[in-house]
Amino acid sequence: MGETIRFLLDGEAREVHGANPTTTLLEHLRGPMRRTGTKEGCAEGDCGSCTVLVGEPEGEGVAWRAVNACIQLLPMVHGKALMTVESLAKNGQPHPVQQAMVDRHGSQCGFCTPGIVMSLYARAIGSKGARAPVGEVLAGNLCRCTGYGPIIEVAKGVSAEAAPEVDLSAVRDETMLTLSFQDEVHGVTRTWLAPRTADELAQAYLEHPDATIVAGATDVGLWVTKLRKPLPTLISLSEVAELKALRETEGGLWIGAGVRYVDAIAAVAKLYPDLGAMMRRLGSTQVRNSGTIGGNIANGSPIGDMPPALIAAGARLVLRRGGERREMALEAFFLDYGKQDRRPGEFVEAVIAPRLDAGRIFKVFKLSKRFDQDISAVCGAFSLLVEDGVVRDARVAFGGMAGTPKRAQACEVALIGQPWTEATVEAAMGALDADYTPMSDMRASAAYRSLAARNILRKVLLESQDPGGETRIVPESAHG
Ligand SMILES: Cc1cc2nc3c(=O)[nH]c(=O)nc-3n(C[C@H](O)[C@H](O)[C@H](O)COP(=O)(O)OP(=O)(O)OC[C@H]3O[C@@H](n4cnc5c(N)ncnc54)[C@H](O)[C@@H]3O)c2cc1C
Ligand code: FES
Ligand code: FES
Repeated sequence: MGETIRFLLDGEAREVHGANPTTTLLEHLRGPMRRTGTKEGCAEGDCGSCTVLVGEPEGEGVAWRAVNACIQLLPMVHGKALMTVESLAKNGQPHPVQQAMVDRHGSQCGFCTPGIVMSLYARAIGSKGARAPVGEVLAGNLCRCTGYGPIIEVAKGVSAEAAPEVDLSAVRDETMLTLSFQDEVHGVTRTWLAPRTADELAQAYLEHPDATIVAGATDVGLWVTKLRKPLPTLISLSEVAELKALRETEGGLWIGAGVRYVDAIAAVAKLYPDLGAMMRRLGSTQVRNSGTIGGNIANGSPIGDMPPALIAAGARLVLRRGGERREMALEAFFLDYGKQDRRPGEFVEAVIAPRLDAGRIFKVFKLSKRFDQDISAVCGAFSLLVEDGVVRDARVAFGGMAGTPKRAQACEVALIGQPWTEATVEAAMGALDADYTPMSDMRASAAYRSLAARNILRKVLLESQDPGGETRIVPESAHG
């Protein structure tokens, strides 16, 4: 078993011994490594001032991803390559992106600048999720000074270049990384296990059923930086190749629990175009480069964006405990607020997203205060089969309306067998009151949520009657 974290920094092998596994990558960069160009703005994945690039094996090569170093845990870079803003200047000359930021006055206080430079550099080298409209690439980089005009000008002028070639063999081996650290502050011995196979993972979780599973850490990272949870045992999914499988099966698209959003979007969009479009708004490029659909489901949040859409689609969840597997309808997994149908030692292995019948109407609506990089106040998803003007089947699910992502059964009953008309939709809108008693919180009032849920059902009707109609606000930044 390996007990040393190894990674490449600017192509050179680095080793870290005796690390606390809940040290964030940002803490390590700014502390022992003195890479202080990478800034800490929010420590919760929102502002992007800590953006760095991580390279990991993919096929025969290395795929680079921009990620938020503040919520990546240091052992997650084991066996990978790293670039920070300090990696870019060569022979004392700034990188063209940096020079363009100077020339176009893209920086004022400068706090966000290293993160913006890294996101634009990621775009230049065609890293994951970065060959996208400028607005999408920069949605995870907040600048409070410049008003973005000059930064967008810089972004539009960025020329493509080759990614640096790195040889990961010096930092990769077949052993399981196992770290043990005595945390005097929390009075715990903290352990990190990074199994290499699904069988090793199943065994490790059986032996440590109280462990915290870490997939992309876009939720878990905040438990460290904001909640200061002790997290004595952590089991990482990042080296389990089987969990990254994304494949067509008879039952539909098999999405392994370790598949990150960025790698799933194209395949999901093929099945459900509206969900693909919504996923491009889920978090930011940095969040989608780390976060997984499995983590979104397992977390059980009532405002997670994927569950309502996948429930409406009729997705099934595959759970594994040791050698045993069970499968269930996704909605059955969410028992109550903070409570899921998962036994000790049982993990999410995959979600199976079914193909839709021809002609099905499938719509997803995410309502949030900001277009990108914001959690939903309400997320509604609809899968309707309308034949000869009559609703033959309806699956409706909402997030943000109850303690769990939940199907709207009264609404479905009000739709099924009825003509697909304004009058039916009015009745089904009223039925939503029987399905949900939403709450008021910082994102929205209960009254807003109820009204918004009704109105998005009306939008489904309007969009089906007039597919080209302007029913949604799409900011200019989403186009180019
Ligand atoms: C800035 C920011 C913006 C965000 N925006 C959105 C948004 O717009 N919409 C949205 O829905 N979410 C959003 N999130 C939340 C988060 O990105 C998602 O919930 C994400 O999908 C979590 O996946 P992960 O791989 O990072 O999970 P992790 O953080 O690694 O884990 C999350 C939880 O799931 C458990 N877990 C993970 N994988 C498994 C498994 N295979 N089996 C059992 N348990 C498992 C973990 O133990 C933990 O309890 C945002 C987060 C941040 C930081
Ligand atoms: S410090 Fe804000 S995203 Fe990391
Ligand atoms: S230049 Fe000040 S935050 Fe962007």
